[in-house]
Amino acid sequence: MAGITLLAIGPEQTDAIGTLLARHLVAGDVVLLEGELGAGKSALARAIIRARLDAPGLDVPSPSFAIVQPYPGIVHADLYRISDETELDELGLLDDEDQIVLVEWPSRAPGLAAFRGLTIEIDMLESGAGRMISIKPRAGRDMSELAGALRQFQSR
Ligand SMILES: Nc1ncnc2c1ncn2[C@@H]1O[C@H](COP(=O)(O)OP(=O)(O)OP(=O)(O)O)[C@@H](O)[C@H]1O
Ligand SMILES: [Mg+2]
Repeated sequence: MAGITLLAIGPEQTDAIGTLLARHLVAGDVVLLEGELGAGKSALARAIIRARLDAPGLDVPSPSFAIVQPYPGIVHADLYRISDETELDELGLLDDEDQIVLVEWPSRAPGLAAFRGLTIEIDMLESGAGRMISIKPRAGRDMSELAGALRQFQSR
């Protein structure tokens, strides 16, 4: 499967997509979140983390300053401020192979693309409201179940 493209007409749909997506993530998935400033990477990660932890009201701050924010079984990172890919080792982002890893600004660390998981690109629609969310598998990740679960949001 080459991937799927979803339409989220508002923040509530981004949340709903994150909630459904969370159920289909497996231990060790490296999820790369691409998209420009304000696209909704943190918003989607927040929904995924809350759903994984079954904690709807959990405070999930953007990790843009902390860079790495750990939760039980899942870690959320924002690499915007790293200057060199070697900093990844110091951050310990990939130390636990059973952890789900969510990464904003993965373009700062191109080596991450080699890890099994999903690449999610969020694009703002020109009207300003709504987002296109495309999800592609990497390194042999099967996403047929995931695609089925998200069919209601599929745009093409
Ligand atoms: N489907 C949607 N339609 C319109 N607005 C949305 C949608 N999904 C999320 N948003 C809004 O877009 C904004 C996304 O902000 P967020 O901090 O998640 O962006 P980001 O991609 O993480 O940016 P940064 O690169 O600065 O980390 C939020 O205000 C959120 O409410
Ligand atoms: Mg963010």
